[in-house]
Amino acid sequence: MNAQRTQVAIIGAGPAGLLLGQLLHREGIDSVVLEATSRAHVESRVRAGVLEHQSVDILQAAGVGARMRREGLLHHGIELRFQGSRHRIDFGALTGKSVMIYGQHEVVKDLIAARVQAALPLLFEIRDVQLSGLESSAPRVQFRAEGQTHALECDFVAGCDGFHGICRSYLPASGVKLFERVYPFAWLGILAAAPPASQELVYALHEHGFALLSMRSPTLSRLYLQCAPDEDLDGWPDERVWEELQVRLATRDGFSLTTGPIQQKSVTAMRSFVVEPMQWGRLFLAGDAAHIVPPTGAKGMNLALADVHVLARALVSHFRYGSDDLLRRYSEQCLHRIWKVQRFSWWMTALLHRFDTDNDFDRRRQTAELEYLASSPAAQQSLAENYVGPPLE
Ligand code: FAD
Ligand code: PHB
Repeated sequence: MNAQRTQVAIIGAGPAGLLLGQLLHREGIDSVVLEATSRAHVESRVRAGVLEHQSVDILQAAGVGARMRREGLLHHGIELRFQGSRHRIDFGALTGKSVMIYGQHEVVKDLIAARVQAALPLLFEIRDVQLSGLESSAPRVQFRAEGQTHALECDFVAGCDGFHGICRSYLPASGVKLFERVYPFAWLGILAAAPPASQELVYALHEHGFALLSMRSPTLSRLYLQCAPDEDLDGWPDERVWEELQVRLATRDGFSLTTGPIQQKSVTAMRSFVVEPMQWGRLFLAGDAAHIVPPTGAKGMNLALADVHVLARALVSHFRYGSDDLLRRYSEQCLHRIWKVQRFSWWMTALLHRFDTDNDFDRRRQTAELEYLASSPAAQQSLAENYVGPPLE
C-alpha cells in the first residue's frame, strides 16, 4: 500500500473541492484532491451558468478570475414572462449589483488549470474511497488508483463529492437531521448552437408550464422546459423541443426564438435537500454533498463556492492561529445562508411552475403574485437582492 500525508484531503473535483484546494494553496496549506471521474468528464459537464456577484469576487480573489472577466457576460437584470407580456427586473437599479453568465465547466477548467500549473496533487479516476479516524485528530482516506490501494493521512477531510457522493454517509444517522422536498416535475434542458434570442435570461410561466431562456455565450443558448420527472427524451425530437419552447416563451409583441443545432439534451430532477449539521469530527461537507436546491434560483454552484469560502477561512484559522472557533461554527454559519437560499429557490420554483395539484385558487394566486412582482418595486427588490446573492457574513 502507498502511504502519503497532507493537511486537507478533498474528496471531489467539482467547483467546491477545486476552489477549496485553490484557497488553501494561497494560504500555504497542503491538500490532495481525489476525483472519481476523468478530467475530460468534469471539464465538459454542462451544469450551472449564473454566478452571483460575490462568487465572481471569490473567484477573482482566488486568482482564477481572469478568463471569467474576459469571456463572462455581465447581466444587470432578468425578464419575467407570463400571459404574453414581459417584465424586466432591473438588478442594477434595485441593488446596484449584477450577475455573471459563465458556465460551471469553465469555472472548473480555470480551477484545474491553476492547480496543474502549481503542480498540486489532483488525482482523477480514483475508486473506492473509504474514510476512517474522523473523530480522531488523524483521519485517514483509503482509495484505489491505477489498480493499487493508497492511504492518505490528513488533519481534515473535506467532503465535496456532490449529492451522490459517499462522504455524507459517514455522518452518524443518530447525529444528523435530513430535510427534503422532491418536486413533481423536472427540467428538460438543451444546449444549442444558436445566438440567444434575448440579451438577458427569461423566466416564463405558461399554461403548459415553466420555460427558461439562458445562454453560455453570444453563440450558445441554454434553454429549459418543465417536464415530467420520468420524461422520456425519445419523445422529444429537436423540432418538438423548439416548438414547445416557442409556445411557452411567446409574447403578444411577437417574440421569436433563434434556433440552431442541439448539442446536448438532458432531464434534471428537482429537489430541495439539507443535512444538519454539515460536520462530523474532522469531516466537513461542502456544496451539493450537504445541500441541493431546485435550479430555478440559479443557486447551487454559488452555495458551493460560499461554503468553501467559509471553510477555507476556518481551516486557515486552525493551521495558522491554532484556533478552532471558526471550524466549530462552520456548519451554523453556512446553514444560515443555505436556508435563506433554500427559501428563495423554493419560492422561485413555486412562482414559476405548474404543479399537478394546482386548483383554480392556486392558479389565480400564482397569477396575482406574478402581477404583484411586475408592478411593485418592493416585491422586485426582494427578488433582485436574493438573485444577485445575499451578502457573505
Ligand atoms: P459537484 O459539481 O457535483 O462535484 C462533486 C464531484 O465529486 C464530482 O466531480 C463527482 O464526480 C465527484 N465524486 C462523487 N463521488 C465521489 C467519490 N466517491 N470519490 C471521489 N469523487 C467523487 N447552480 C448555480 O449556482 N447556478 C445555476 O445556474 C445552476 N444551474 C444548474 C442547472 C442544472 C441543469 C443542474 C444539474 C445544476 C445546476 N446548478 C446550478 C447546480 C450546480 O451545478 C451544483 O450545485 C454544483 O455542481 C455543486 O458543486 P459541488 O462541487 O458541490 O458538486
Ligand atoms: C443556466 O444557464 O443553466 C441556468 C440559468 C438560470 C437558472 C438555472 C440554470 O435559474
